[in-house]
Amino acid sequence: MRNRRAALATIAGAASLALTLSACGESTTGSAKKAGGTIGIAMPTEASERWLTDGKSVVSDLKAEGYQAKLLYGEDDPKTQVSQIEGLIKEGVDALIIAAIDNRSLNGVLQQAAAAKIPVISYDRLILGTPNVDYYVSFDNEQVGRFQARYIIDKLGLEKGKGPFNIELFAGSPDDNNTKYFFDGAMHLLQPYLDNKQLVIRSGQTALKQVTTLRWDGPTAKKRMEGILSASYSTKTVDAVLSPYDGISIGVLKALKEDGYGSGNKPLPIITGQDAELASVKSIIKGEQSQTVYKDLRLLAGVAAEMVDDILTGKTPKINNRRAYNNGVKTVPSYLLQPTTVDKSNYEYVLVAGGYYTDAELKS
Ligand code: GAL
Repeated sequence: MRNRRAALATIAGAASLALTLSACGESTTGSAKKAGGTIGIAMPTEASERWLTDGKSVVSDLKAEGYQAKLLYGEDDPKTQVSQIEGLIKEGVDALIIAAIDNRSLNGVLQQAAAAKIPVISYDRLILGTPNVDYYVSFDNEQVGRFQARYIIDKLGLEKGKGPFNIELFAGSPDDNNTKYFFDGAMHLLQPYLDNKQLVIRSGQTALKQVTTLRWDGPTAKKRMEGILSASYSTKTVDAVLSPYDGISIGVLKALKEDGYGSGNKPLPIITGQDAELASVKSIIKGEQSQTVYKDLRLLAGVAAEMVDDILTGKTPKINNRRAYNNGVKTVPSYLLQPTTVDKSNYEYVLVAGGYYTDAELKS
């Protein structure tokens, strides 16, 4: 635990720089609250490896702080998640850590949490449209999109004036607040090259609402890519795909390979991703997916666990951003971590030396 705290402190920068707010709007001068209670954790899905890592890490960090943890996965179904959170409130948990499935579906249940004075931490995805969310812990989500776009710009040589190249855009789930941050971050850098025609989107699908992928589902992305390939690329080839998440990248890659990309004179396009999921890192090593954005979920979990402990023991949780994330009702005090761009050239240094994966896991 000492190591984790030290790591967090390093990332946070000087403690004196950290902004602080009082927990849940309550005075922090009151007596210490419940250390050693039970924390309810609501995660979106077991179908994606990253959320399994999040769940495991949050539970073990809470246990290390002396708490019990109740971890539930909502099978990517908003109604299931609402009833799971309702159940946790009825069981009398002392705090909730929630990664929402649909960021607007939780207003009612969070009202119940507020009535029961249960503090709520919005985990990775901001919960929208409710005053009843106390803190947000995530990564710099626009930076994720900027890393993806920067990779495409560098690999295509756009700054050197090369082109024109064909690109297609994919975005995340429309009900996830992160989706527009990733997309805006990327488009901010790509737009000038679309404007000057060094980049061309042959499908004509350019607006966020045309390119989202409900629930970040890989097969849904595969289907959309198939449609695009048959409608717009019978005589052309795709040079780059902006993909916001590894599960989507794997779906897009399947469609491309079935269309003959990756063999003969049809190289695979540059394709980005996010989360450094095992299948995608293996794909990067094989030379298929090009890049991913690594977010050290151990640090994210650590910040969430520490916030809970601070709130429940009457301390003021550390935050490092009080402006970036407004949920429509309030600006939610946030702690944002920094992501890292990863490709074949640095995965060993970042992911293996960093202890996220072992060499054996990546080579099996
Ligand atoms: C987002 C998250 C991404 C990715 C995606 C799909 O909310 O920030 O890292 O995991 O969900 O699960």
